[in-house]
Amino acid sequence: MTRVWNFSAGPAVLPEEVLQQAADEMLDWRGRGLSVMEMSHRGAEFTEIFDTARSNFRKLLNIPDSHDVLFMQGGAIGQNAIVPLNLSAGFTQAAFVNTGSWSKKTFQEYKKYGEAVAVLSNSLPALTDGTARDLTHSASAYVPDCSGLPALVNSQNFAYLHYCDNETIGGVEFHGQIEALASQLDCPVVADMSSNILSRQFDVSQYGLIYGGAQKNIGPAGLTFVIIKKELLSRSLPICPSAFEFKTVSENGSMYNTPPTYSIYVAGLVFEWLLKQGGVNWAQAEAKRKSELLYSYLDQSEFFRSPVASADRSRMNIPFVLADESLNATFLSQAAERGLVQLKGHKSVGGMRASIYNAMPYEGVAALVDFMRDFEAEVV
Ligand SMILES: Cc1ncc(COP(=O)(O)O)c(C=O)c1O
Repeated sequence: MTRVWNFSAGPAVLPEEVLQQAADEMLDWRGRGLSVMEMSHRGAEFTEIFDTARSNFRKLLNIPDSHDVLFMQGGAIGQNAIVPLNLSAGFTQAAFVNTGSWSKKTFQEYKKYGEAVAVLSNSLPALTDGTARDLTHSASAYVPDCSGLPALVNSQNFAYLHYCDNETIGGVEFHGQIEALASQLDCPVVADMSSNILSRQFDVSQYGLIYGGAQKNIGPAGLTFVIIKKELLSRSLPICPSAFEFKTVSENGSMYNTPPTYSIYVAGLVFEWLLKQGGVNWAQAEAKRKSELLYSYLDQSEFFRSPVASADRSRMNIPFVLADESLNATFLSQAAERGLVQLKGHKSVGGMRASIYNAMPYEGVAALVDFMRDFEAEVV
């Protein structure tokens, strides 16, 4: 068996040990004679799997008692509707920080539920006129200066302030700017952490709500995590569907309806794997080591370039462009021959993108940099 280095943005690489364990347990989970896929979600076996997964997730992120963890379905895009339906009682508007495609999508969806106010955005063309952004010819993507947020947000009666902590497509990541200001804001902070959850230490208590799809740093698609401050559980609109009402989901221990059982099982294996590696501290150090390896190569290269302002670069999703775009297809096919796959950038921005989540070993990034060095030597 030969496994490739998979740089997919998601669904993404999973730890090989986890896949092996899931394979070993596929037909017979720990001597019970059945697969996890075949278990009742209310039975003793799955209850054990679920409780262990949830408590390890809490342990990894040091989630305080003030916050509940919900395992849901519908993905992060589902949350773009579910969050407003749950947090809007008594409010008619919410504030948004727009830094790329994903935050912009959340902003747009909110317009169905109230007045969406973009209090801050970077000036990317894609954010203002909706046209595709060509990273090859544009200025850097970046995080806007957030220091004025309290003045922009306070006394406006916003239901919440939403931002995306890591823009998976543009490769722009916050490095704690909004978290540091959260206590000065008079509305809760809601963060989409789909693509960088479990990759850095952060203070959960500063957030009203954190959500994301699991299919990047947690496990298979189908599972959505929600971390919510309990005091926000009573803000839902009457039209909120019961299956998506945080209060109902919370009161039923994420089992109001059948949860995505197999995805939760694999996520639980990933949490155990991460704890064994050294938890989020380990992931954070590895993310730094791996991303610095690739960025330092990009910064000295005469052929490849990062389009993101250096202070705001993502440690998880690294877009890069070739000086000669006509070589994009050759680059991708030669990379695939070396076992380096899923490097094509998102269709809205073009170029390349290497997603290097927790489960991507340092050796995978080193193999990519070796290949890029060889490619550059050949074409420059
Ligand atoms: C930051 C971010 N938000 C939202 C989404 C959409 O997630 P889903 O497909 O789980 O709805 C993605 C998916 O790639 C993402 O990266």
